[in-house]
Amino acid sequence: MLGRPPGRPGALPPPVRVKILGISAFYHDSAAALVRDGEVVAAAQEERFSRRKHDAGFPARAVQWCLEEGGVGPEGPDAVAFYDKPVTKFVRILETHFAVAPRGLRPFVAAMPLWAREKLWIPMRVETCLVRLGVACPRDVFFLEHHESHAASAFYPSPFPSAAILTVDGVGEWATAAVGRGEGNTIELLGELRFPHSLGLLYSAFTAYCGFEVNDGEYKLMGLAPYGEPRYVREIREQLVDIKEDGSIRLNMAFFGFLDRLSMVNGRFERLFGGPPRRTGEPLTQRHKDLARSVQEVTEEVILRMGAHAHAVTGEKRLCLAGGVALNCVANGRLLREGPFEDVWIQPAAGDAGGAVGAALAVWYGLGSGGHGGPAAASLGADTTRRGGDGVHDAMKGALLGPGFDDGAIRELVAREGIAATRLGEAEWAGTIARLLADGKIVGLFQGRMEFGPRALGNRSILADPRDPGMQSRLNLRVKNRESFRPFAPAVLAEKAAEWFDLDRPSPYMLLTARVKEGRSIPAVTHVDRSARVQTVDAESNPRFHALIAAFDALTGCPLVVNTSFNVADEPIVCTPADAVRCFVGTGIDALVLGDWLVKKEEGSELDI
Ligand SMILES: [Fe+2]
Repeated sequence: MLGRPPGRPGALPPPVRVKILGISAFYHDSAAALVRDGEVVAAAQEERFSRRKHDAGFPARAVQWCLEEGGVGPEGPDAVAFYDKPVTKFVRILETHFAVAPRGLRPFVAAMPLWAREKLWIPMRVETCLVRLGVACPRDVFFLEHHESHAASAFYPSPFPSAAILTVDGVGEWATAAVGRGEGNTIELLGELRFPHSLGLLYSAFTAYCGFEVNDGEYKLMGLAPYGEPRYVREIREQLVDIKEDGSIRLNMAFFGFLDRLSMVNGRFERLFGGPPRRTGEPLTQRHKDLARSVQEVTEEVILRMGAHAHAVTGEKRLCLAGGVALNCVANGRLLREGPFEDVWIQPAAGDAGGAVGAALAVWYGLGSGGHGGPAAASLGADTTRRGGDGVHDAMKGALLGPGFDDGAIRELVAREGIAATRLGEAEWAGTIARLLADGKIVGLFQGRMEFGPRALGNRSILADPRDPGMQSRLNLRVKNRESFRPFAPAVLAEKAAEWFDLDRPSPYMLLTARVKEGRSIPAVTHVDRSARVQTVDAESNPRFHALIAAFDALTGCPLVVNTSFNVADEPIVCTPADAVRCFVGTGIDALVLGDWLVKKEEGSELDI
């Protein structure tokens, strides 16, 4: 155990240096995070290292990188925090099985081998991983409730001294949503909605039915919604889900398959909505668009009611959000505009990856001791009474918490691969890239530390001119290799955002939608309903990206660029310079920026590397 050594009277006490490793794993988007003396210093998803999208395995590579980045030596971290309670989850699966038996045998049997092999042995798995890395394993592995981790990831890094907390996802152990309140360094969860009644699973059921992959395609369904009409809202509300005044819901399980089958929906659901599920590759019809719009509207209604309830029970003016459903930026935008809160902060890694950050922070602030506000972190000798929360600055560092690569590493790759690259001086860097964009080029931008969470925010991004009417389909078909309806997001100078969008506050993590102002023509980032999923960029959190957009503005009078993640469909966002080069070579990206280096692909030619 670490102690606080006695200091001279009047001298500042030496820093304690408590290092807490957070881990989320075995559901989707496994991740690791390192919290050092209460500061999030590293966080990354395993998929970026393993190159398997949504990798759900134990995040050994992410753990290794986080320990290195956090300066953890052979002494190991002081504590490990796991983002859920596997045994409780296992009990839920057992109880669910016995409640529906003899139905439900197939999903039960399918789930068992992984539980027997990995999920129930997490402390041992952590120890094996750390021993392999040559670092000592701490005595304690703290297990947080899944929604405690989400709540901690929502409140602790937020800029708010106190706030209401709402977490909404598919399912954790039993909870599918939770409401709580945070103040200072404490969090109190006040209520929860329990499985199988889940807004996340309702949305996922429609995601699967419309032919998209669960835990991946929810974003696509949201993107499809504005193309449809809310034709099925009545069926959903009358037959599928009973929405209570407080936003809690009851699903009619006669329509769903996730209790007793290996599918989200069953034959009765299919009959109600007019046919079998769409298979991958089949055309998207108006019916699918209408279904998407309908479940989106129902979701927004539930979120608005949950928000009103959270406001009523806490009396707080501000709200913190996390959980996979909090990635629904359309619902977030409505909650902000129509809900009772003056301000809303959303954890950028709102899905389960963010649970790694939440769990580690929860242990630091004492949530992981089996009771709220307990002595877990204090037992490590830390002073955890102080927390930020100045009302303005959050503690997620622009989500730029992943690996970064210095000029030496990039220079070495360029030389090794014989890449014809030009080095840009600081004075010409932004202007040169802006000129390429203004000339209609698609630019891959790789700089600084990789983003944590699902969105690329200017460090692993593909950029383009938003004014070009052909850019959306060109990017979708020639670069991203994905459905042509998928919209793109604008990254706009924070100080000019209000001139182009109906948005009166920062949206640094691309988690709010806002309407494009009348008279503004930016077709590549404007949805059919004239909304856009806005990222505001300020000079403080990403000075280089800000300078680049400012240079584009100086050339064109347009203070925003298209910003989409640097990857192709079904691949994780690039992590290393070599990943970026591979993606650049294999797609229709015209130019690649690797830190200070510029690589151009001439029209119609193969890249000479
Ligand atoms: Fe979750």
